[in-house]
Amino acid sequence: MSARWDEQPRLRTMNRDDLPAVMAVEREIYPFPWTEGNFLDSLAAGYDAALLEFGGHLLGYRVMLLAADEAHLLNLSVAGAWQRRGYGRQLLLATMLDAQRSGARVMLLEVRPSNEAAIALYASAGFRVLGTRRGYYPASGGREDARVMSVTL
Ligand SMILES: CC(C)(COP(=O)(O)OP(=O)(O)OC[C@H]1O[C@@H](n2cnc3c(N)ncnc32)[C@H](O)[C@@H]1OP(=O)(O)O)[C@@H](O)C(=O)NCCC(=O)NCCS
Repeated sequence: MSARWDEQPRLRTMNRDDLPAVMAVEREIYPFPWTEGNFLDSLAAGYDAALLEFGGHLLGYRVMLLAADEAHLLNLSVAGAWQRRGYGRQLLLATMLDAQRSGARVMLLEVRPSNEAAIALYASAGFRVLGTRRGYYPASGGREDARVMSVTL
């Protein structure tokens, strides 16, 4: 399917039927992807999961946990073919707005210190480093720390 000239990328709720497409992106872009079970658990738990689509293409997706006045961004992803076109920033800003509308006052996330693209994106949206979680991620040589970042909404 192709996009109409006046069509804009749109955010919609993720559901179970979307998981084959989501998993294809997940496996493409992460050396240590989420499993389908991780997504199923997130949907079953009622986490806020949404897709960014354009002209029938899956551009990216996010999963966030909203708890009291905190939003925890658990997954933010843009498909390889659509990266570096501003969709990651669009998805992040829409996610921050959704969190704020849901009553969150702060958003937190973990990111690999080696993930310079994501760190630059988060910093440009106002996120600052809060601390480090030691050995948080699996890595090829063992484990990698996580940088914890947060922003006031
Ligand atoms: C991180 C990610 C979401 C960014 O999405 P994107 O659509 O490519 O990013 P955008 O085009 O919106 O760029 C936004 C900013 O991110 C940064 N950025 C994005 N790609 C970058 C790269 N390859 N190198 C350095 N900075 C990069 C830049 O600061 C950029 O701002 P600029 O264009 O004004 O310079 C995307 O690369 C991705 O899905 N990566 C794999 C999954 C991942 O790492 N997710 C985050 C886990 S915490």
